[in-house]
Amino acid sequence: MSPSRARTSRITIGTRAPPRRPRASDVADLGLAEAGDARIAWADAQMPVLRAIRERFARERPFAGLRVGVCLHVTTETANLVRTLIAGGAQVALCAANPLDTQDDVAAALVERHGAAVHAIHGEDMATYYRHIEAVLETRPQLTMDDGADLVSTIHATRTDLLADGGILGGTEETTSGVVRLRALEAAGQLGFPIVAVNEARTKRLFDNRYGTGQSALDGILRATNMLLAGRVVVVFGYGWCGQGIALRAKGAGAQVVVCEVDPVRALEAKLEGYEVLPGVAAAAKGDVLITATGNRDVVRREHYAVMRDGAVLCNAGHFDVECDLAALRELAAERRQVRPHVEQHVLADGRRINLLAEGRVVNLAAAEGNPAAVMDMSFANQALAAEHLVRSAETLEARVHGVPHELDDEVARLTLAALSVEIDALTDAQRAYLTAWEQGT
Ligand code: ADE
Repeated sequence: MSPSRARTSRITIGTRAPPRRPRASDVADLGLAEAGDARIAWADAQMPVLRAIRERFARERPFAGLRVGVCLHVTTETANLVRTLIAGGAQVALCAANPLDTQDDVAAALVERHGAAVHAIHGEDMATYYRHIEAVLETRPQLTMDDGADLVSTIHATRTDLLADGGILGGTEETTSGVVRLRALEAAGQLGFPIVAVNEARTKRLFDNRYGTGQSALDGILRATNMLLAGRVVVVFGYGWCGQGIALRAKGAGAQVVVCEVDPVRALEAKLEGYEVLPGVAAAAKGDVLITATGNRDVVRREHYAVMRDGAVLCNAGHFDVECDLAALRELAAERRQVRPHVEQHVLADGRRINLLAEGRVVNLAAAEGNPAAVMDMSFANQALAAEHLVRSAETLEARVHGVPHELDDEVARLTLAALSVEIDALTDAQRAYLTAWEQGT
């Protein structure tokens, strides 16, 4: 307990966790622990499902003595997931899933108050980022938890020793981009242990990707720029679940939304939803704000920069910073200047200014706080239940990418409805029979 917390004993903020000795860690400032713990508690109040799972884990201890390596965005919501694993008996080592996303106060609180080993510093350079991944792997994790698959791909690229003798029971993956990488590893016949793709749970992607990223991407843009969205042209590249959420919320804020999509069915969906659908270059010429959410590279590139409007805001809501060709943008810029926190203005040779947010990194986490706790509750409830499932089924699961079992997905939905005091009907016996009978027609 820090001295300042001891002095304010009449008002208890934070998670009331007993103080524990910090394990080997590398964080910015342990003195931030009290502030971090108060924010972790704030998020926890909006995560009833994860809390209920944590209480059960504390009784049942499904991870007793298990070493868990976690590579997730170091946010208040992640902290509550880490607390849940620790309540279940796990020894957790955590690193960041992106160098700009670490909330240093949260990292400090996890070390000081919750007994996690944390290797993450906001704004760390790429060498430090990978050193921190290595530090987590040094703990020889038996279970991995990834967001973007950096942990698992590092294991397969440089630490195959960890795979020997079934050293790793399994892993979970949080995001679309990570699942794409892991499926590629599986297709190459090289995946060394089973992975549960949490992103594929309906209670993850329908809510976190759509309503979570939809809100938080705009939150990042607004915090960085303080601009008015009403009346602006907002171009959304990619109409997957994240793109759909961003388009929906931008429309709700009064923007005129243009969607760019390479998948014909999704493009049609966007059109019938009422958006203008255009090829990227035509859209780029109209956009006041351009947001990429595709999971692919070079979505905005030289030909788009050539037509973009003076003062346009450019940002990325995908996991990796590859969606805008940043090398080309830097090359085209006669001058670059930091005009506000998270806003780097690129002045092109013809005088047009392109305002790049958060260095092209995932804007909702780098310029804001990521998805709200209430939606991460479902995602991280899936993570916790998927980890338990992996431990319980380690013997039988093949080294493949698996979906989240339907029962777990449904349980998360049921618990979330209960937390929201929403009641729903159940099928009658006759209805259930009707759905399973072929003899009954009209
Ligand atoms: N991904 C998106 N939002 C997040 C959050 N708040 N915490 C952790 N991971 C996230």
